[in-house]
Amino acid sequence: KARRTLAIIKPDGLLGNYTDDIKRTISEYGFSIVKEQIVQLGEATVKRFYAEHSSKSFFSSLVKYMTSGPVLVMVLEKDNAVADWRALMGPTDASKAKITHPHSIRAKCGLDTEKNCVHGSDSTKSAQREILFFFDELALGE
Ligand code: CMP
Repeated sequence: KARRTLAIIKPDGLLGNYTDDIKRTISEYGFSIVKEQIVQLGEATVKRFYAEHSSKSFFSSLVKYMTSGPVLVMVLEKDNAVADWRALMGPTDASKAKITHPHSIRAKCGLDTEKNCVHGSDSTKSAQREILFFFDELALGE
């Protein structure tokens, strides 16, 4: 099983001062943060990162949200990292997470189905792509 996943603390998480809390949870659950970087993403970068959602109705709003402030991008490592980080984040819709997964990260710092505070790769394959995207190939100046 893949030992690494990509996690992002989104602009609402970073600006809302949830970073220390989230990092504490990350280490409590046995992940180590092997790489991290704060970046202000530009429109082109977000569009490329979320290309699979480009035809969705929420795409332009998602791009606006993800460029609204800096994000913290991290590579997390532990056994079964992809699935375990997704479980720890909770469901995409943070308003539902508050009811069904009250101890999840999204329940604590997210707002709704868009402003859900954190991202995690959805598969081993995505994790490989997303880690390379941020920590290898991405030219940060657009
Ligand atoms: P994330 O897991 O980072 O992957 C895609 C993102 O799109 C998701 O988190 C949300 O921020 C956003 N998103 C997903 N579904 C919706 C939706 N129905 N409406 C608005 N934004 C969404």
